[in-house]
Amino acid sequence: MPKQSSSCKRNMGINCGVPLPCIFYALQLFLLALHVNTSLAERSTYIVHMDKSFMPKFFTSHQHWYTSIVDSFKTEIQTSSDSHSFSPSLLYTYDNALHGFSAFLSVDELETLKKSPGFVSAYNDKKVTVDTTHTTTFLSLNPSTGLLPASNYGEDIIVGVIDSGIWPESESFRDDGLTKNIPAKWKGRCEVGQEFNASLCNNKLIGARYFNKGVRAANPGVTLSMNSARDSEGHGTHTSSTAAGNFVNGASYFGYAKGTARGVAPRSRVAMYKVLWDEGRYASDVLAGMDQAIADGVDVISISLGFDDTPLYEDPVAIASFAAMEKNVVVSSSAGNEGTNGLGKLHNGIPWALTVAAGTIDRSFGGTLSLGNGLTVPGFTLFPVNALINKLPLVYNKTLSACNDTELLYTGPNAILICDDISDIYGQISHIIAAEVLGAVFISNDPYIHELGRVRAPIVVVSPDDAPALFKYAKSAEPIVSMTFQQTFVGTKPAPAAAFYSSRGPSSSYPGILKPDIMAPGSLVLAAWPPNVEAARIGRNVMLPSGYNLISGTSMSCPHASGVAALLKGAHPEWSAAAIRSALVTTANPLDNTQNPIRDNGDNFNFATPLAMGAGQIDPNRALEPGLIYDATPQDYVNLLCSTNFTRKQILAITRSRAYDCSNPSSDLNYPSFIALYDPRHHTRKLRIQKFQRIVTNVGDGAAKYKASVTAPKGSTITVSPETLFFSETYEKRSYTLTINYKGEKKGNVSFGELVWVEENGKYHVRSPIVVSPLV
Ligand SMILES: *[C@@H]1O[C@H](CO)[C@@H](O)[C@H](O)[C@H]1NC(C)=O
Ligand SMILES: *[C@@H]1O[C@H](CO)[C@@H](O)[C@H](O)[C@H]1NC(C)=O
Ligand SMILES: *[C@@H]1O[C@H](CO)[C@@H](O)[C@H](O)[C@H]1NC(C)=O
Ligand SMILES: *[C@@H]1O[C@H](CO)[C@@H](O)[C@H](O)[C@H]1NC(C)=O
Repeated sequence: MPKQSSSCKRNMGINCGVPLPCIFYALQLFLLALHVNTSLAERSTYIVHMDKSFMPKFFTSHQHWYTSIVDSFKTEIQTSSDSHSFSPSLLYTYDNALHGFSAFLSVDELETLKKSPGFVSAYNDKKVTVDTTHTTTFLSLNPSTGLLPASNYGEDIIVGVIDSGIWPESESFRDDGLTKNIPAKWKGRCEVGQEFNASLCNNKLIGARYFNKGVRAANPGVTLSMNSARDSEGHGTHTSSTAAGNFVNGASYFGYAKGTARGVAPRSRVAMYKVLWDEGRYASDVLAGMDQAIADGVDVISISLGFDDTPLYEDPVAIASFAAMEKNVVVSSSAGNEGTNGLGKLHNGIPWALTVAAGTIDRSFGGTLSLGNGLTVPGFTLFPVNALINKLPLVYNKTLSACNDTELLYTGPNAILICDDISDIYGQISHIIAAEVLGAVFISNDPYIHELGRVRAPIVVVSPDDAPALFKYAKSAEPIVSMTFQQTFVGTKPAPAAAFYSSRGPSSSYPGILKPDIMAPGSLVLAAWPPNVEAARIGRNVMLPSGYNLISGTSMSCPHASGVAALLKGAHPEWSAAAIRSALVTTANPLDNTQNPIRDNGDNFNFATPLAMGAGQIDPNRALEPGLIYDATPQDYVNLLCSTNFTRKQILAITRSRAYDCSNPSSDLNYPSFIALYDPRHHTRKLRIQKFQRIVTNVGDGAAKYKASVTAPKGSTITVSPETLFFSETYEKRSYTLTINYKGEKKGNVSFGELVWVEENGKYHVRSPIVVSPLV
């Protein structure tokens, strides 16, 4: 939760750090509620899908048609006492992401609407989940990790970011080095609003729009704190600079992660669509933003938010992504931050979008203890200043060392305390802050520590390996310690690891497609931040600003993948969205920087399964030349939808068009990964068989021969037929069948393996993960 100082507005009644303004705010709302008449209580925002083929001829446009439908309700209630602002109203008309509109309607009006010709479906507006971890942690984009820009830097590519707005003055959005040659297809613009005028856009930030009708309808009379595309919380500034920020020298988070900040696609253009408001976050606004992004002509949509427990036909991201996919716009979305809540919790598990998990990177932040005996001990910290801690007494005291009693600590010695490893480091830290202790040394190897919230006191967390030497010295006569902060360590091993917070598959929207697709850096990423939003705090009350901030989440991993997709699109303008996703998946790296399988910080550091990381860590340079591609057409996704139990109208809500054919239903999408499911509740030892048909396209240079190399998941056997694929030229297609024989497990085990198509000269390794997973 970034902006702690104003968090009470966004999370009314919960997690309020500042009780007084919170109570005040709640009071204002309460008074407002008293003025509300009964008709308001009855009306709410609905998203309505319409079949445009039913539009009567005399309407000149879909807007005209939808307006007349909603207006017809207004005349019906003219005689009633409703005040104007609470009458039925049209919020948005949509024509790109979906066919339909959103409107503020009563249940009766909705019932009437359902009888209108061309009505497809309607559902209540929903709240959005934003994918920054709730543990208030930080990220950092490491200029030295493998996310190197491709040679064209994404110059001709436009990345549309659906988020909380942007801080246009940030150095990350300067247009130095960018040409004026904005692609001719671009139809977007820089919308004027509060503290935002058109001159704030440039050759980097080429569009900025905002969509607030949903949040206004849900909160009648609300005053938006920043009624423009300007970011008042930080999330959108961070995500858009991560995807496509320009080079900025000397960026850092209070001295940590110092270096050149830059987005993954530093020459790509950015267009911001603000749909998240401090006052609320609604599906109707998200749809409006995506609808406009598609109309404006973006190449990639980066969307670090999602809707939990929502079927595909009511999921705004899924619906709008389908329209985007038809136009070859890549939609890169975040998996969510529900990691610790178990399997099957990810959102955006959409077959036609890219779903991105989050991992750690090979960098950590810290400080160093220098003991009076000359020993130095490195540790973790993010304390945001270079505090003067020079030769202070070091105390290890049995009565205090649990560090779990504020009053006791408050009356303790004026010293640097050593706290025991009682496996509640978060609680200990809050006691140390509350008791205003001079400083503390914690002992822990909890991997979560690196996802720790803001470090508000001079503390350093050291490894248990260093504890014996520390204790020994602390027992000597008059021990002293000095502490330094603001250190950055690179090359940390092992990295990446799946971040503990990253949501796990299988996808509840469509479990038959393996999600997430890939993992990208999400933890401790440095990116741009509004200079008037808290970036750090000391103690309870000193808030510090910074133009760059470290925050963690799949919100931060998603824009890395969006940036890579932008680069790929620049290098291969002819590739479909499915081809780009395929390249990312089949080239992802399942190994960490010790050349062992990637581990999972959320699962006792066991090997990460593809349900945590998809195919593995995104590998941009390899994705440029994947060798083979698993492509898919819009009709292929329709065949998938037709194989579900969705009704025709539910399918139409997604596809918008009756022109699609439902006569070849198939749950077997040409996807670059494999998942076989079993129900652990109805488990038998009986062998199950699942067969997958796949078609690969040769995107290498000319003729090629590939051989299958299979590692079967534990307890399964795999057959691939044929085992050799011959291609005589580029773009030739070949098909094969993969069959999994597997058993379910009562314990709900997840097992996994891989299929690698190895090119005979070893030039390409086209790898697909294979998972056997319980259905959750
Ligand atoms: C636009 O806004 C910026 C920043 O608020 C301001 O400096 C500038 O003068 C404004 N330009 C115009 C044309 O209003
Ligand atoms: C503090 O931690 C110690 C050691 O784990 C425990 O015995 C004690 O009950 C805790 N005290 C409080 C106030 O939680
Ligand atoms: C489809 O099946 C699932 C589970 O079997 C069920 O939850 C869902 O309501 C069904 N949907 C429709 C439209 O019948
Ligand atoms: C499933 O998990 C249990 C316990 O974790 C283990 O004993 C068993 O061997 C596993 N089965 C397979 C096939 O991996």
